[in-house]
Amino acid sequence: MPFDNDSLPVRLFTASHERAWNPSDIDFSHERSDWLAHTDDERRLLLRLVSGFRVGERGVAHELAPLQIRFRRVGWIEEEVFVAAQLYEEARHVQFFERWLVDALPGRLGVEIAYPDLRGDMFSVRLPQAMRMLLEDDGPEALLRAVMLYHFYVEGVAAEAGYTIYHEIFEGGHRFPGLERGIRLIQRDEARHIAFGVHVLRRLLAEHHHLVDLFESQVAALRRFAADDPDEILRGFRPGNTPFGLDHAGYRQLYLDNLEGMRRRVSNPPQ
Ligand SMILES: [Fe+2]
Ligand SMILES: [Fe+2]
Repeated sequence: MPFDNDSLPVRLFTASHERAWNPSDIDFSHERSDWLAHTDDERRLLLRLVSGFRVGERGVAHELAPLQIRFRRVGWIEEEVFVAAQLYEEARHVQFFERWLVDALPGRLGVEIAYPDLRGDMFSVRLPQAMRMLLEDDGPEALLRAVMLYHFYVEGVAAEAGYTIYHEIFEGGHRFPGLERGIRLIQRDEARHIAFGVHVLRRLLAEHHHLVDLFESQVAALRRFAADDPDEILRGFRPGNTPFGLDHAGYRQLYLDNLEGMRRRVSNPPQ
């Protein structure tokens, strides 16, 4: 089977080598004193945000393998190779958040410090269901649904909105240098994952014209989730009185803007 070194998935795979990093190299020695310098509400919100990413990174690491098996079965070798890099990177992100929580918190999460009350069924039900369908269904529809949920929504809409919150916190003068460094590196990795997802969706739509209707109906379904999901992070904080001055309405709009941006990236491939 030929192998196209110039294809987008292989170019992204090469970039993955060039931009590799090691969570163990990041200096977390200031994080605990930074943590202790913040108010209870700020800590509550930051712990919810980081814990949400911890659950999310674990979730995407758990559920990605069926995509690689699916590409293997249908002979998409370049895409199969890229997923190997993505699996490694999601595992790296899991390690990063586990390390940060140990070094920043003045106690063990889930032991001395309670897990935040995170709701939603994305990583317990929705994503596992969509990804595990790939083990039994080689059809383009199942692949489109899986990549729409994983790369398009979880990575391209929800996680991207989360990075914006992190940056608002850091740029507001709240210093967590190790967390900030890691978030920047993770966001750079995730940009490749999102570009890969866009590539897979474009390829599917180019090869199966009838999938345009399914793509649009999935966008509409995700738009409904995008109207509710953002409330999770700021739940319980009154608008106008949120830690770090975060803005409820602005955050909700960010989800919708990210969703529209992703829809345009897939629908309007460069000529
Ligand atoms: Fe990740
Ligand atoms: Fe990712």
